Amino acid sequence: MLHKTFSVLLVCSAALLTSNASAHFEQEELTQIEIKTYQPTPVPDRIILTLSGDPATERSVNWRTDNNTETALAQIAKSSGSPYIEQDSKTIKGITSSLKTQHYTSYHHSVRFQGLEPATNYVYRVGDGQVWSEWIQFKTSKADNSPFSFIYFGDAQNDLKSRWSRVIRQAYSDMPKADFILHVGDLVNDALDDQEWGQWFYSAGWINGSIPSIATPGNHEYEDGDLSPQWNTHFTFPGNGPDNSKLKNSVYYIDYQGTRFISLNTQSMSEDPIVKTMQQKLWLEKVLKNNPNRWTIIFQHHPMSSAKEGRTASIPLNLMFKSIYEEYSVDLVLQGHDHAYARGNNLSTGGRFFDRQGPVYAVSVSGPKMYDAGAEWADVTEQNNQLYQLIDVSEKEIRYRAFHADGLMFDSFVITKDEQGKRAVK
Ligand SMILES: [Fe+2]
Repeated sequence: MLHKTFSVLLVCSAALLTSNASAHFEQEELTQIEIKTYQPTPVPDRIILTLSGDPATERSVNWRTDNNTETALAQIAKSSGSPYIEQDSKTIKGITSSLKTQHYTSYHHSVRFQGLEPATNYVYRVGDGQVWSEWIQFKTSKADNSPFSFIYFGDAQNDLKSRWSRVIRQAYSDMPKADFILHVGDLVNDALDDQEWGQWFYSAGWINGSIPSIATPGNHEYEDGDLSPQWNTHFTFPGNGPDNSKLKNSVYYIDYQGTRFISLNTQSMSEDPIVKTMQQKLWLEKVLKNNPNRWTIIFQHHPMSSAKEGRTASIPLNLMFKSIYEEYSVDLVLQGHDHAYARGNNLSTGGRFFDRQGPVYAVSVSGPKMYDAGAEWADVTEQNNQLYQLIDVSEKEIRYRAFHADGLMFDSFVITKDEQGKRAVK
């Protein structure tokens, strides 16, 4: 394989890499030892909790084993200090699918926990009845519009073990009670490379088992027009998207304590501009029209307008979606793809404008690949820093803070909304 022999220059899209960017960064080699490290075993690994339905009553968990483990079981109980968990636990049978990757075949298992009680601590483990994971704790969401918090990551993508791990660990240590983690795509660089997926899961470690994730795919989760098989084997998201099996686990919405989160699959729009773009547009309008929530946050891989110097958007998202976002008062749009940081109100006029009724758009990057920032539309730009964002949501406001990988806060703003729904950004 290429990565065994060479140091490979990483590209978000080969045609779009500037010589300036390539001077900054080269991906490290994967060694044979690492390939062995990421082989599946009978012991469950890559355990990840996701939001897959009503967050007050449902969680899903996915995990991996080698291909000798055909039974998927999860046990769950309300958590307490007692070590005698098994006797109060319920056992749930899950589903298993097989995944052949370049070095091995693994089994991926999935269980949906449904009918949970809101705002309740649970403890669960996964396995086959003989070999189990550790017991892992989580808490269900509240059934009302109580305040909550989440972590937002731009593209992780490169040198995940070496250089991304510190970012997710720093974010977690800053916000250990985050309700969930949101990824805006390009989790890995090579959609099919299971070593990279292994590094992504290694970096997050047990955090992924206890704080649920939601994610939207980027261009690097696609290979030859198809979404990576690792996407659907690793993640269970709500199946409430457009009626298209190819969008099923990547276009969806979740209502979380008074905020509607909407995942759009922008890469699928560039693969199939007519069908997939129109399907998402029609679906989105329905989901925005019938939205009882106070706040609306959209997350998508490609930015509406680029954050990278000299880059023009490869998909005309501004043309297709900006007026819809404004008509339905979307509050915040979280994006990635450009490997730089930019934040501001949009932009179709080609410059900043200070009518703060439009959504706030943010572009961020969490991994080490860097582009030079250049965004006319943005109020704040940043380059050559790995970043994470901590976002607190209440009835009154959305408080957004962006941090460098070492924990230094460098950007923040607050969106407020009055009784009439008029927004202000400060
Ligand atoms: Fe990327």
